[in-house]
Amino acid sequence: MESNAKLAVVIMAAGKGTRLKSRRPKVLHEIGGKSLLHHVIAAASQIVPANHIYAVVGHQAEVVKAAVADTGVRFVEQAEQRGTGHAVQTAGPAIAGYNNILVLSGDAPLVRPETIAELWRFHQAESAAMTLTSAELDYPAGYGRIIHNAPGFHPSDENLSPGTPKSPEVAAIVEQNMLTPEQLSLREINMGMYAFRTAPLLTHLAMLTTANPHGELYLTDMAAILHSAGERVVAFKTEDAAELMGANTIAEMMALDASLRAATASRLMAQGVTIFRPDTCVIDAQVEVAPDTVIEPFVQLLGRTRIGAESRIRSWSVIENCTLGNDVLVRQSCVLADSTVADGARIGPFAHLRPGSEIGEDAHIGNFVEIKKAKLGKGAKASHLTYLGDAEVGERTNIGAGTITCNYDGVNKHTTRIGKDAFVGSDSTLVAPVAVGNGAYIGAGSCITRDVPAGSLAVGRARQVVKEGWAAARRARQQAKKQP
Ligand code: UD1
Ligand code: CA
Repeated sequence: MESNAKLAVVIMAAGKGTRLKSRRPKVLHEIGGKSLLHHVIAAASQIVPANHIYAVVGHQAEVVKAAVADTGVRFVEQAEQRGTGHAVQTAGPAIAGYNNILVLSGDAPLVRPETIAELWRFHQAESAAMTLTSAELDYPAGYGRIIHNAPGFHPSDENLSPGTPKSPEVAAIVEQNMLTPEQLSLREINMGMYAFRTAPLLTHLAMLTTANPHGELYLTDMAAILHSAGERVVAFKTEDAAELMGANTIAEMMALDASLRAATASRLMAQGVTIFRPDTCVIDAQVEVAPDTVIEPFVQLLGRTRIGAESRIRSWSVIENCTLGNDVLVRQSCVLADSTVADGARIGPFAHLRPGSEIGEDAHIGNFVEIKKAKLGKGAKASHLTYLGDAEVGERTNIGAGTITCNYDGVNKHTTRIGKDAFVGSDSTLVAPVAVGNGAYIGAGSCITRDVPAGSLAVGRARQVVKEGWAAARRARQQAKKQP
């Protein structure tokens, strides 16, 4: 086997994706929470190191490059997108130093590294100049069709060393819009993933023409060109066509998204997670959930979310980039982002954890409570109608209904610190920066502007005035006014 250092991967990702009717480049559309191009690069990176992967970018090249800069792949710029053949021509100088290249489509995100590796092995075993990937489809419309050589002798057979496995040669790939009526019934299609020996490819690549209805340079025409030149062109036939399906329309993209998410849900269920109606849940591929956790219908688990064991996520909650412990209950309709929730905590219903929130063990966050960049200690409670932003709340402290931390003075954000075992009465406002000591009490309806020492009571509200008989007197006055 040749060394992998002599192998490069070219990912064609320059097209606009006209059929999507979107302003965003096709390869940056997402399925399973990741861009199409990220999926393809992730698979290719299992075959060759990122610095041997060349992404051909063109339409909104700067946006695409910035989006996948984290992967470390190299870029080739195809300023004008004149077809898949032109994309590979543009990559010519970059690939000249490699013995072989694999060509992948940036819009076929389900491709598995195992399949790419199989294509590469097959290509070498067949001593082919070009190996394309094919599959039999019941409904082949829209795809390029494979034309096999009539059985018999072909010049390239002479070059085969004894014992080389011999697949039938491919004479041509015919695109949908070039098919003759007889060819329409051909069911073996081109899946758009190829291996080339670089020398014959580069020798003949300039022979591509635009003699087709789209006036493009089709990479698929290389099959006929190389075959006519006496080079060996073969098809690597896959059983699983679904894996190489391209996403040319939003509907195709959503079909791929559904199959990826179904696979994720199946993986989690196989690991002991209960997911009711998994078809209604949106779960990103990287999400991890421990056994005996229950996910109710219509839940979204996104990004790098991790959930421990024996937890329950009730319907309509959206959890993104969060870490939840064991035995956590997230009730209906909660929104959690970039936060952590420790074992045994109870959240919601209708709670909002904004980025940077840390909810301690057995803490309770109730309905209509918003938490932002706030840390609640073990057993702390904020059960109703509260905003805690830029705050620290100690263990077992109770935050009464309607408590607000006034963290913003119009210019800067300030911190509120509340100790442990404290009690903040309902409808209190805490004007930050301010600190409340351990075990302190705050009377309901207080506006707290100064620090409250540990163990003390602070009441910051107007003293109640009671005027006995006032109401009857007022009514009498009004009655008197009405009479002339
Ligand atoms: C292509 C094949 C077709 C095959 C199908 C499999 C050709 C001519 N046809 O058709 O035989 O059945 O894939 O899915 O290749 N791109 C560039 N530069 C360009 C044009 C395209 O980088 O100038 C990129 C696109 O961004 C895309 C990929 O090449 O990622 C494939 O192009 P696309 O237009 O989607 O080809 P298909 O029509 O799907
Ligand atoms: Ca395509």
